[in-house]
Order: sequence, then structure tokens, then C-alpha cells
Amino acid sequence: MTTKKTFENIKKLLNKHNQSHLLAFWEQLNSAQRQNLLAQIGQLDFSKIDDWVVYFVKKSSSSALPADFAPASSYGPIPADPDQRRKYARARELSKELISAGKVAAFVVAGGQGTRLGFDGPKGNFPISPVKNKTLFQIFAEIVAAVSEKYLTVCPWYIMTSSLNHIETREIFRSNSYYGLDEENVFIFQQGTLPNFGFDGKILLADKDTIACSPDGHGGSLKALFQSGALEDMKRRGVEFLSYWQVDNPLINIFDPLFIGLHALDAAEMSSKALRKIKPKEEVGNFCLVDGKVTVIEYSDLPDGLAHKRNPDGSLVFGLGSIGIHIINRSFVEKLNAEDFTLPLHRAVKKISHIDQQGKLVEPAEPNGIKLESFVFDALPLASKSIILQTLRSEEFSPVKNAAGVNSAETARQMMVARAADWLESAGVAVPRKDDGSVDCLIEIAPSFALKKDDIKAKLSRIPEIKPKSRFYLT
Ligand code: UD1
Repeated sequence: MTTKKTFENIKKLLNKHNQSHLLAFWEQLNSAQRQNLLAQIGQLDFSKIDDWVVYFVKKSSSSALPADFAPASSYGPIPADPDQRRKYARARELSKELISAGKVAAFVVAGGQGTRLGFDGPKGNFPISPVKNKTLFQIFAEIVAAVSEKYLTVCPWYIMTSSLNHIETREIFRSNSYYGLDEENVFIFQQGTLPNFGFDGKILLADKDTIACSPDGHGGSLKALFQSGALEDMKRRGVEFLSYWQVDNPLINIFDPLFIGLHALDAAEMSSKALRKIKPKEEVGNFCLVDGKVTVIEYSDLPDGLAHKRNPDGSLVFGLGSIGIHIINRSFVEKLNAEDFTLPLHRAVKKISHIDQQGKLVEPAEPNGIKLESFVFDALPLASKSIILQTLRSEEFSPVKNAAGVNSAETARQMMVARAADWLESAGVAVPRKDDGSVDCLIEIAPSFALKKDDIKAKLSRIPEIKPKSRFYLT
């Protein structure tokens, strides 16, 4: 029960921070609703809210561009010289040891809303594979299982959800029997939330006893790993490295020996994979160096002149794009959480459903407020060392973001088929192609059969025949 004194204190606190409207419907609430509302108010960080209102809600830009920055350097997808060739080989060897020893875990962030895709439910449940129609979650689970089997180890899998999809995600895993994985090695946990604000700086109410909140961004993962007990679980298992990726990418190479190995050899704390951008303003973050630290500057923040700037060989000066793939050390996340670390917040102007002063539901047709988020790549400058490895788009990146067009399910399926065709052809299999060179059949390769191109040749007992327009599944 709330004592009168506690209630008066809360009222005072809300008054002080201009948020007393949160109790506007107090008299209409029953006891359970009152407790519910007070618990949510108790979760709000009043030491920060006033600043958020001043700097993010009432201002139109959240992140100032650093005064001085340069393009970041990276490892190429293939070694540049004999020294590097030796280093890449050592990296691959080292990562075999690390994976076999159970020191590398998978970590997918799956707390986003997936509004652009227009898919009802957690995005990980989106069916995407070209022949078997496997969901994103199933593909990832099969990769985790295949790697565990290959290295005779257990690769735990951490999955971050949010208040928007936590219960559904758990239920999807349960009803699919964890896709054959041992439930005890799949750790599903929820990220935090941040309150939503009206343009006037007032926190919005979703209902008379409910504060309007949204997930705190993938940057919230670094706190949620700690708060959920996932870090503790890793420590208990001896996991040292997290292979981090975004739920929308079916081409992900979760346990990439080269990436893990280079990261470990260079004693980095948080590292990234990058792609060469296909155009100056491609909608990916740009890897830059600020005060010697790897930093991602979002495409929307990179001035046009710099985005279009070219090197003498014609390549883009700021040509390395971020694709949401990282290796993160457990010890780095522990270190951050040992202090009260904060990542910068980014504002997004959104349409936010809420109730008005009369308690009537408002479903705005136009943006009416601000959601705040933090981004995981903003932790890169906090790392003592951070490397970048370039990878190939055709091998590792095809996000499912939109209902149609660029980065849609259709483009992702095409790229999955194209990659499978390339892998098969490299092993001497004839793949039917149309006049324009595109693949003229549907091909899917199960992760249990091959995790990379070189696996195909070793596994194929005979060269299969693939007919034009057919559906070919290799398992
Ligand atoms: C993101 C990156 C962009 C990168 C691109 C690659 C940002 C700001 N931008 O763009 O630099 O090139 O991916 O695909 O991240 N998520 C959560 N919780 C949240 C918010 C998001 O778990 O609160 C997860 C989503 O489920 C998804 C991932 O984070 O797996 C990326 O989120 P999304 O909003 O789709 O990022 P993009 O804007 O597409």
C-alpha cells in the first residue's frame, strides 16, 4: 500500500519536474491501477528527464557533428600482403580454439518494432528462406546448432527482446521447441524502455494508469545484458566474446573465424564489420575516427560534401558503412556497467498514441512527439581498442526491412539464392541461369550442410543436377 507520505513525495517530485499531469486521473483509478502507475513513475529517471526535455525533446537535433573527424581504417576482406595473410591464418586458428572452448556466444538484438516491414509479430518470426520458408529465428538457430556441432561445443545464444515482443518471442521459441536447441542454452531477455514525450516536454500517458514508453534502442542492450543476468550467465559458462547481429539479416555469418580471431589477436574490446557503401548517401552509418577512436556517424548526419568526397582512385573517402555486426567482449560490458555509463540519446519524431487531458484516446495522423533511443555503436569510442573488418555484401548482408523494393523480403531471398548458387558453382555444380545472369531456380542450403563456401566441396558426395525453374534444397 502506498502511504500518504510516499504519495505526497511523488506528487512533489512530479511537480518539480513539470510532470504532475501523470497523476491527472488518480481519483478514477482503483488500487491495483494506482500501484501500477506508481511503479512506472518509480522507474523514471528524474535525474535525467529535465535534461532530456531541454536537449532532445525541445531541440530539433540530437547529435552534434564532431568538430574534426577522418575516415576509419579497416582490414580488407582478403589479406593485403604476405604479413597480413599470415595474420589472417593465425586469426582463424585462434578463433577455432576460442569457439571450441565455448568462449564465443551468439547475441541477436530483436527488440525493434519492424514497422516498415508491416509484419505482425516479432520480426524474427518472419518466414524468409527461399525454398523451405524458414523463419529468421530458425535460420539463426540452425547456424548456432551447426557451429556447436562442428566445434564439439555449446554455443549459447542470447536474444534481446523488448516490451513490444518479449512474451510473443518466448512463446515462438517454446512452440517451436527451441528449434532443436537446448532451452537452457537460449537466454531470452528484455531491454529497457524510455518514456515518450509530447513536443511540450510532457511525458505522454498511454492510458490513465500507463505511461507511454518505447524500447530504449539497441544501445540498451549493454545495460540489459547486465540487468537481466545474461552477463552473469556468460561468466558462469566462461563466455568471453559476444557475436552481435541484428535480427533482420538472414545472411549473417554468426561465428566468423576471421572476424573473431582478428578481434582477439588485436586485443580489441568491441569491433565491427563494415561494407563498402554502394553510394555516397547509402542509408548506413559511416565509420569515422574521432580523436583516434572509431565512431559511427549516421548517414543523415554526414554532410553532403563529405559524403560525396572521393579518393584519387575514385572510391568514397567515407566509404565504410556500418551493418550492425560486432564482436563485444563480456569484460567490456562488465566494465561499462561497473560505472554509471550512458550512451548518447537520439531523438525520433513519431506518431505516438496517447490519451488527452480528458482521458480520450488520440491516434495522431501526424507526428506528435518524441521517442528517445541509444545506439550500440555509440559504445565503440568507449572501447580501448576497436577493429573494423570489411566484408562482402553478397556473402553477409541483406537486411529485411521494407515491405517492398530495397532491403525487402524479395531482395533478401534473391540474395540468399545468389549466394547459394555461387557456393555451389564454386564446387563445380552447374546452376541454371537466365540470359541476364540471374539464377533460374530456387536454391537453399541448410546451415547443417554448409556454413561457408568451402564446406560445399568437402560435403558433396556427388555433383547434383539442378533443373531450370526447380526448387533445390541441400541438407
Ligand atoms: C540500422 C543502423 C544502420 C545500419 C543498419 C543495417 C541504427 C540507428 N542504424 O538501421 O547504421 O546500417 O541497421 O541494417 O541502428 N532493435 C532493438 N531494440 C530497439 C531498437 C532496435 O533490439 O530498441 C534492433 C532491431 O530489432 C534490429 C536492429 O536493432 O534488429 C536494428 O534496428 P533498426 O531500427 O531496424 O535499424 P535501422 O534503422 O534499419
